[in-house]
Amino acid sequence: MLLLTIESSCDETAVAVVRDGREILSNLIVSQIDIHARFGGVVPELASRQHLQAICPLVDASLEEAGVSLEQIEGIAVTRGPGLIGALLVGVSYAKALAFSLKIPLVGVHHIEGHILAIHLEQEVAFPYLALAVSGGHTHLFRVDGIGDYALLGRTIDDAAGEAFDKVAKMLGLSYPGGPIIDRLATKGDASCVRFPRPMLKKPNFDFSFSGMKTSVLTYIESLSGELTEQRVADISAAFQEAAIDVLLQKTMRAAQDQNLSRIVVAGGVACNSGLRREFQSAGASKQLDVYFPSPLLCSDNAAMLAVAADHYLQRGARSAADLNAVSNWPLVEAASHFSLSL
Ligand code: KG4
Ligand code: ZN
Repeated sequence: MLLLTIESSCDETAVAVVRDGREILSNLIVSQIDIHARFGGVVPELASRQHLQAICPLVDASLEEAGVSLEQIEGIAVTRGPGLIGALLVGVSYAKALAFSLKIPLVGVHHIEGHILAIHLEQEVAFPYLALAVSGGHTHLFRVDGIGDYALLGRTIDDAAGEAFDKVAKMLGLSYPGGPIIDRLATKGDASCVRFPRPMLKKPNFDFSFSGMKTSVLTYIESLSGELTEQRVADISAAFQEAAIDVLLQKTMRAAQDQNLSRIVVAGGVACNSGLRREFQSAGASKQLDVYFPSPLLCSDNAAMLAVAADHYLQRGARSAADLNAVSNWPLVEAASHFSLSL
């Protein structure tokens, strides 16, 4: 099945053409980072406006790169939520109108479901597995028994990991989004300059908390006398990143053991982090667990990632109805239940 997929949940407009939920023919992304960077974070109204401007030319470009015409497209997938409501609405409205005019089926996909399943575009991973979804808006641990079959094991009780990276970067006077900058600076810093707390590690559950860790970084910065030199910024970046990775790693490894799962998939923008990738791979190797990371382009927001779930649902006859609406909050475990056909 040849699918056109559209993602507009945050600050990236993305359109892809994917065959059979596996073969990426095009996967284009228009980033709005430059527009939001000067405000230090995403401005929702600006995001919606940029999506509106980007979406039509991006669909044309994606079809052209894939070498297919609109008439060859057999189904459309769009991110239904969660995300910024105004941003989501641009993609959902566009996708509904296009599907209606072409008389082809439409399916609304959960953003995190897209992130988690992106790995199947590149590698064979057998179910069941443990999925750690770490992005700017999410830090969730799921047991994945199949497409559409998710059990939530734990989640952040406050900030998402990516949000913490971005906020710490802001405290250090770095640009937005801060995650990739902290990642780069951490390689030049000395993490032993300070030990930040590892919240929730003593709790026997799989929840996370990043708010306190972020406040400790602020308190530490305020306690420093003298200038925040480049070296100090690099050292704090390294120490914060080490603490964040430590918590993510330890909770994930514990959850894998608890659930008796030997495969771990790490997904979402923070899964681009080089330290995180290294630490997870090395812990996985020492515990005889297989750890899977999508390539960085498929970790951060993109549209191709929607195709794995969309192809699966559409092939089984599931359809989103014409009254499909965007939802800013939407638990993943309810994702499959909005279809007109129960799966
Ligand atoms: O998945 P994503 O592109 O969008 C959301 O769904 O949120 O994730 C974006 C988040 C941002 O917070 C960004 O700072 C973080 O992922 N991020 C990183 C890295 N690359 C992106 N965080 C740490 N290290 C990175 N290399
Ligand atoms: Zn995302």
